[in-house]
Amino acid sequence: MMDLVIPDKTHDESRQGEALVLEPVTGKNNGRKLYIESYGCAMNFSDSEIVASILSEQGFETTADHNAADVIFINTCSIRENAEQRVRNRLKEFTVSKVKNPGLVVGVLGCMAERLKSKFLEEEKLVDVVVGPDAYRDLPNLIDQVDSGQKAVNVLLSREETYADISPVRLNSNGINAFVSIMRGCDNMCSFCVVPFTRGRERSRDPQSIVAECTDLFNKGYREVTLLGQNVDSYKWNATAESETPNAEASSAETTNFANLLELVALISPELRVRFSTSHPKDITDDVLYTINKYDNICNYIHLPVQSGNSRILEMMNRTYDREWYINRIDAIRRIIPDCAISTDMITGFCSETDEEHNDSVSMMDYVKYDFAYMFKYSERPGTLAAKRYKDDIPEEVKQSRLAQIVAKQQEYSFYRMQARIGKVEKVLIEGYSKKADKDYCGRSDQNAMVIFPVGDNYKPGEYVNVLIERTTSATLIGKVV
Ligand code: 5AD
Ligand code: SF4
Repeated sequence: MMDLVIPDKTHDESRQGEALVLEPVTGKNNGRKLYIESYGCAMNFSDSEIVASILSEQGFETTADHNAADVIFINTCSIRENAEQRVRNRLKEFTVSKVKNPGLVVGVLGCMAERLKSKFLEEEKLVDVVVGPDAYRDLPNLIDQVDSGQKAVNVLLSREETYADISPVRLNSNGINAFVSIMRGCDNMCSFCVVPFTRGRERSRDPQSIVAECTDLFNKGYREVTLLGQNVDSYKWNATAESETPNAEASSAETTNFANLLELVALISPELRVRFSTSHPKDITDDVLYTINKYDNICNYIHLPVQSGNSRILEMMNRTYDREWYINRIDAIRRIIPDCAISTDMITGFCSETDEEHNDSVSMMDYVKYDFAYMFKYSERPGTLAAKRYKDDIPEEVKQSRLAQIVAKQQEYSFYRMQARIGKVEKVLIEGYSKKADKDYCGRSDQNAMVIFPVGDNYKPGEYVNVLIERTTSATLIGKVV
């Protein structure tokens, strides 16, 4: 089943189910080993780093081998039915280990935990603990409860929790790229989407704690941060929100919006690359685009999910913009940021979508010629507005054939965008050896394309090099350092 095409770091299919490892924490050690596996979006991977941090404080050591673990956690995703299915299959494997080792604690974290709550314990009897995305600080207590023979659940959502003070333990890290959460939750209520129900209300994190975390990463040798949120363009921090400032102008001067935050992070060092995900077409401002253009270290790459190219479907999706608005935002990006890569998410076969309406999605792809796209068949999620209001009436074969059509189209455009780089020199941050050959290094261009080039004596991972592009595949640029 084709779901996702052309992985990048923030939606990386190859990372699904990745086990996370960290070095034993010096000092405290309670003799117990923790294994965490993560599914879904980059936010979940980032949350697993917060969980590891909370439990390392309790003396847990992390392991990459679930057979060696005393506690197994799966950080889960509910975005589509098949994401949940994948987790259930994996959980079956872990609960088999539990039969052999009854002392093993098996826990479900993240969006599925939040969606199913204590139902999880009825459905999957061998699960011991169920914890939603805003309750990770409670994990030590919950594990104690399980140790004393009870099942434990905490799925309370919060309006404030941002884990701002927790410094995440960087798991499976190459020491060069890191994700930094800048906000949590989502207030948009797109009709197809389960996220507002599983991750709760939108809240932004204190900019000072974000800048401090990014500065610390830079000082430790990291050279790229990706600022994460479901809708980064609605990031907003009001420093005076809690003090008494009747004067509206005074308080607005204290407000940090996403453009301000980008600038604060970009100013840490010109050697620190800044990326961000996800942008929302209704909220991305020209101000943000000018800021991206102003700083060389803010990468020229915007992930701007369109979901559909048809205004009636967008309305039913409750996206709060129409086709013209989206095109206006694309035109603004092209005008303000020369040479900006754009990627998107697209859903095929949403409720009542006709062939003509689907063709509007196809023609949107022709208009934008996206560099990358993540494409999905509509999957009805229980409890969402679409599930309540509309019939999931597009036959599976039609969803599939529409998906196949846009996937083929995107492959053409990805290849076209790659080909256009031949003969150009790209500034690449070296991330490490290429997956296929240790004679080659890999890294990303400013526009987020993967670049492969021969290993050399004069440069190493974590450094920038200029690479002349000589040839390409539809997903990779290949060249040599100049
Ligand atoms: N069905 C299919 N795709 C979905 N997405 C979100 N919810 C659904 C759903 N119910 C896609 C959207 C979103 C991406 C993260 O996942 O395209 O942008
Ligand atoms: Fe879901 Fe829409 Fe929020 Fe994205 S913006 S998480 S698609 S509700």
